Amino acid sequence: MGGVTVTVVSLFLLLIATANSAAVVSFRDGMLPNGDFELGPKQSDMKGTEVLNKLAIPNWEVSGFVEYISSGHKQGDMILVVPAGKFAVRLGNEASIKQRLKVVKGMYYSLTFSAARTCAQDERLNISVSPDSGVIPVQTVYSSSGWDLYAWAFQAESDVAEVVIHNPGEEEDPACGPLIDGVAMRSLYPPRPTNKNILKNGGFEEGPLVLPGATTGVLIPPFIEDDHSPLPGWMVESLKAVKYVDTEHFSVPQGRRAIELVAGKESAIAQVARTIIGKTYVLSFAVGDANNACKGSMVVEAFAGKETLKVPYESRGTGGFKRASVRFVAVSTRTRVMFYSTFYAMRSDDFSSLCGPVIDDVKLLSVRKP
Ligand SMILES: *[C@@H]1O[C@H](CO)[C@@H](O)[C@H](O)[C@H]1NC(C)=O
Repeated sequence: MGGVTVTVVSLFLLLIATANSAAVVSFRDGMLPNGDFELGPKQSDMKGTEVLNKLAIPNWEVSGFVEYISSGHKQGDMILVVPAGKFAVRLGNEASIKQRLKVVKGMYYSLTFSAARTCAQDERLNISVSPDSGVIPVQTVYSSSGWDLYAWAFQAESDVAEVVIHNPGEEEDPACGPLIDGVAMRSLYPPRPTNKNILKNGGFEEGPLVLPGATTGVLIPPFIEDDHSPLPGWMVESLKAVKYVDTEHFSVPQGRRAIELVAGKESAIAQVARTIIGKTYVLSFAVGDANNACKGSMVVEAFAGKETLKVPYESRGTGGFKRASVRFVAVSTRTRVMFYSTFYAMRSDDFSSLCGPVIDDVKLLSVRKP
């Protein structure tokens, strides 16, 4: 009996020792270890909400002015609400949080995290996994709660990825700076064109992780300086983000995922396809609404090479879609396909949130001449 206890105890100690020495956690799709910050610092590692010790938050390393915030925390006359669990962190000027993850070298990954701005109009986050980085504007135009989910992707250069989220801001008030919560990740499997579609990922089925309970969709920000898209095959070629919506929380024309064009002409997605000069092609797609109270007359503009098509869609905001197609003759070996919404729209249940038409099931195929 005593022997068993000793064995169990030593096994337990061995497990603790292994866990401690293995500072790098092997990654599986989902929330990062303590990605929702539910495990917090000891009281002795804090002064008010400020985190004093850089290793105080389990699984994370912080630097600069980082605050550990609980849901219900008051800031001025605003009560902070936290999307994942009860706790979040706030990054002050030049503050950052980082975590090292064991990944597969060469593989693509997409990070999804919740962020909310607090004071400045133009708060930004620099998210990086060396040598890739991207600066994401944190705005509040997409959801009234202030919190939005953002996606960012990278290709692993080695077996260990050091994920860094940094606030490059210079605010006077140290209590300003974006809030971060619910940091998650998934491996991306870049799809290939098939004999049924020259476009890659035309149904948007491959993309960033949508956190369970994420009713806002995931914003895919525009990436000027980045060639790895969290939406494989597609580029967000505009000033503002597009929104990735799923069947769990929205109405989607086909499959389980689609794209909501949330910011008029400032929110466009594009893909360049290989085409043969002189051949005739048909670009077909579905236009609808996400069943998110986004009502009114909408127009999606589609571009394929030199051809354009305006597709009007009357949205009742309760879900639904129609199909459209455009035929064109390729004038180049590379044809750019692009979509945007002609107009801005606001949710009828929430006049502070941008919304727009949904596009899905985008196909490009060569056809015989009519
Ligand atoms: C973002 O962070 C990365 C890594 O620290 C850095 O190389 C890059 O220059 C930063 N980008 C900006 C715009 O500050």
